[in-house]
Amino acid sequence: MRKVIIDCDPGHDDVMAILETIAHPETFELLGITTVCGNNLCERVTENALHVLEWIGRTDIPVARGALKPLVYDPEPQAAHGYNGLEGFEFPAASIAPVSMNAPEWIHEQLNQSETPVTIMALAPLTNLALLLRKYPEDAERIKEIVMMGGSVHGGNILKYAEFNVYADPHALKEVSESRIPITILPLEVCADCTITEEEIRGWKSSRGKIAQMAGALMDFFAEYGRHHDMHAYTVFDLGVPYFLLYPERFTSSMHAMEIVTEGAETRGQTIFADGDRVRVLEHTDPLAFRNEIRTCIEQLDQQEK
Ligand code: BDR
Ligand code: CA
Repeated sequence: MRKVIIDCDPGHDDVMAILETIAHPETFELLGITTVCGNNLCERVTENALHVLEWIGRTDIPVARGALKPLVYDPEPQAAHGYNGLEGFEFPAASIAPVSMNAPEWIHEQLNQSETPVTIMALAPLTNLALLLRKYPEDAERIKEIVMMGGSVHGGNILKYAEFNVYADPHALKEVSESRIPITILPLEVCADCTITEEEIRGWKSSRGKIAQMAGALMDFFAEYGRHHDMHAYTVFDLGVPYFLLYPERFTSSMHAMEIVTEGAETRGQTIFADGDRVRVLEHTDPLAFRNEIRTCIEQLDQQEK
C-alpha cells in the first residue's frame, strides 16, 4: 500500500490520472489532491478538481489549493484544455470547497502525520513542492519519491525543446531536483506510448456509466488537437504517472543527470539529460496494455458507482 498525494492542474489528462489512482485502492492510499497554477489559473483548476470529485462521488478526498503563479514567470493558460482548463463536459455547480490550508502547508502536515514516506504524483508545474522545500527542507526525508510527468529528451510541446510543465516553472523543478528526493521523470517521449484512440472515446461516450460519460466527453475535447494533426492515437500525458506506479515492470528506463534551463526565449524549460544517476527517465511502455488498463479502470469505477 502506497500513500500518495496528487499535485496537479486539472486538466483533462490530470483527471484521467485521478480516476486511475482512485480505481486502485488496493495499491494507492490517496491522501488528497493539491492544485497549482498550470493549465489554467489555480482558482479554475481547483474548481475543476472539486467538480470531478463531486461527479464521481468522492467528496471525501481533500483538495488543497496551491500556488497562484509560478516562482518567477507569469501564468500561461493552455488552449488545449479549453476556456476553463477542463472544457468538454458541463459539471453541475460543486457543493464542496477546498481545505482552508494552502497546498504546501497541507502537504507538510500530511508528511508529518504519516508514519511512512509519501509518494508525490506530480502532474503539473512543481511550484507547490518548491515552496514546501523552501520552507521545510527537512520534509524531503518524508517524501518517498516524486514521479513527475514533465520534460523531454528530444523535443518539446510548447517550445522546440520544452515540455509545458517544466516550461511553466523551470525554477521550481530546478530547486526540487537539488534536494535528495528520488525523482522519476515521465518525459514527452514515453507519453507517445501513453495513448488512447477513437475506440476508447466512442466506447465511453456511448456508455451508460456516468464516469465513462465524463471521461468520453473530456477525452473527445482533448483529442481535437490530435485530430487536427492527423494523429490516430491521443496522448494522455499525466495518466502515465499512476500507470507507472502500478506497473513499473511495464516500462523501460535509465538513470541520468538532469539540467534544467530556466531562461531564454527558445531554451526556457528545456531538460538536458546526461550521464549520471540523479533521475530515472522512463523510456517506453506498451500502448495496448496501457489502453486496456484505462478501459478496465473506468468500467470498474462505474460498476462501483452503481
Ligand atoms: C503536461 O502539460 C499539461 O498541459 C498536461 O496536463 C500535462 O501535465 C503535458 O505537457
Ligand atoms: Ca497536468
